[in-house]
Amino acid sequence: MIVLLTVETMSRQFKYTTLTHTEDIQQLGHILEQCFIMSAGDSEIYMQRLGVDKFRAIYQNQQVVGGLAMIPMGQWWGGQRVPMTGIAAVGIAPEYRGDGAAIALIQQTIQELYDQEVPISVLYPATQRLYRKAGYEQGGSYCTWEISPDSIQLQDKSLPLQPVTTKNHAIFHDLYQQQAKLIDGYIDRHPAIWQGLTQPDHQETVCGYLIGEQDQPQGYIILTQERTKEGTMLKVRDWTILTNAAARTFWSFIANHRSQIDQVRWKSSVVDSLTLLLPEQTAKIKYQERWMLRIIDVVKALEMRGYPSGITTELHLEVKDDLLATNNGKFILSVADGRGEVTTGGKGELQLDIRGLVPLYTGLFTPHQLQLTGKLEATKTALLAATQIFTGNSPWMADFF
Ligand SMILES: CC(C)(COP(=O)(O)OP(=O)(O)OC[C@H]1O[C@@H](n2cnc3c(N)ncnc32)[C@H](O)[C@@H]1OP(=O)(O)O)[C@@H](O)C(=O)NCCC(=O)NCCS
Repeated sequence: MIVLLTVETMSRQFKYTTLTHTEDIQQLGHILEQCFIMSAGDSEIYMQRLGVDKFRAIYQNQQVVGGLAMIPMGQWWGGQRVPMTGIAAVGIAPEYRGDGAAIALIQQTIQELYDQEVPISVLYPATQRLYRKAGYEQGGSYCTWEISPDSIQLQDKSLPLQPVTTKNHAIFHDLYQQQAKLIDGYIDRHPAIWQGLTQPDHQETVCGYLIGEQDQPQGYIILTQERTKEGTMLKVRDWTILTNAAARTFWSFIANHRSQIDQVRWKSSVVDSLTLLLPEQTAKIKYQERWMLRIIDVVKALEMRGYPSGITTELHLEVKDDLLATNNGKFILSVADGRGEVTTGGKGELQLDIRGLVPLYTGLFTPHQLQLTGKLEATKTALLAATQIFTGNSPWMADFF
C-alpha cells in the first residue's frame, strides 16, 4: 500500500492511499455496492474493468471508510485533446458520513492529479455542494432525447447499413474520434467505457451497424431493444454521424422500427442538430443533467485546449484557488492561430475563482452570463476578449461515468 497523504480535518485524521491488500479491496467493493445500491459482486466486475490501481481509498483508524475511481481519459476543447481524469464511484460508508471523509478524499485526489500534471478533471455529481467545495463547477450537459419512431417519417436509402459485431469495439474508434474532435466536451474514452457501450448488461442483444460502405463508413449506430412498463424501447447506446447522407440514413433506419418499437432514445446535445431533419418537433428531452469540471492546472488547461482560429487577442486574468497555490495570481492568455499561450503577470482585468473559470473555459455560459450570476468581475475590454475566446457551441458529452 502506498500512503499518499495523511490529512487532518477539523476533528478527524484521514489517510489517503492506493489499495493493495485483498481485504481492503473487498472492503471498498462492499462499501461501493452499498453506496450505489449495486448487486453483490458487481463492484468486483467494475473494479476489474477499470483496474484496481485506478482506485483510491480513505482510511480512518486503519479502517477503509470510502474511496473513488480515477479514470484517465482525454476531453476535446476547441479541437484539441486535453488530458482529463474522470472521477467516479465516490462513496463513503454510511456510518462514517458527515465527518469530512468525502471532502478529504476529493481534495487529496485533486492534489494527486496536480502532481501527475493532469490539467482538468470531470465528474457527475450526486450533490454539487460537496464538489463545489473542492473547486468543481458545472461544465457541460448530458442529455437523453426520446421520440416515437412513427413520427420520424423519413425514408432515405442513400447509404447501406452493414451489421457488425460489437465484440471488438476498435472498429468504431476512428469514426468516433473524427466526430469527437468537433464537439466541445466529448471525451477520449477509456476502454472500460467502450466495453460498457458494446457489451450487454443483462440478457439483451447489442447490435452494431456501420453506416455506408464497409471500406468507407460515414458513421455507426450501436443499439439495444427492450420491453419496459411503458412499452417497447429502442436505445441507441452510441452513434457517430459524419455526413448529411449518414444523418438521413440514421433517421430512416430508426423509423423502420416503427411497427414494433414505441419509443427510441438517444443521447445528444441539449440543442440537437439531428432533430432539424425531422418534419415536426416530436423529439423531446427525456432527461438532462450537468457534469462538473475542475481546472487542476490553470496554465496547462489554458495552453492545451484549442481556440477559434481567426482570433488574435489577449485576456488578463486573476484567479483565486484555495486548494492549489500555483493556480493563484495574474495570468495573460494570448490567443493566436487557434492556440493559447499563458504568461504570469498582467493587469488582472477579469477576476474569478477557480470554479468560475470552469463554465468560462467550457463555454457553458457566456462571460456576460457569468458576470450576471456573480461568477466573475471584468472590465469591458476583458469581457469582450473573453467572449471572443470562449464562446462556442454548448458543450456536452454522450458518456456517463
Ligand atoms: C455523498 C457522500 C460521498 C458524502 O460523504 P460525506 O463523508 O458525508 O461528506 P463530507 O462529510 O465530506 O461532506 C463535505 C461537504 O459536502 C456536503 N454534503 C455531503 N453530502 C451531501 C449531500 N448528500 N447533499 C448535500 N451536501 C452534502 C456536506 O454538507 C459538507 O459541506 P459543508 O461542510 O459545507 O456542510 C456520501 O453521502 C455517500 O457516499 N453517498 C452515497 C454515494 C453517493 O451518492 N456518492 C456521490 C456520487 S457523485
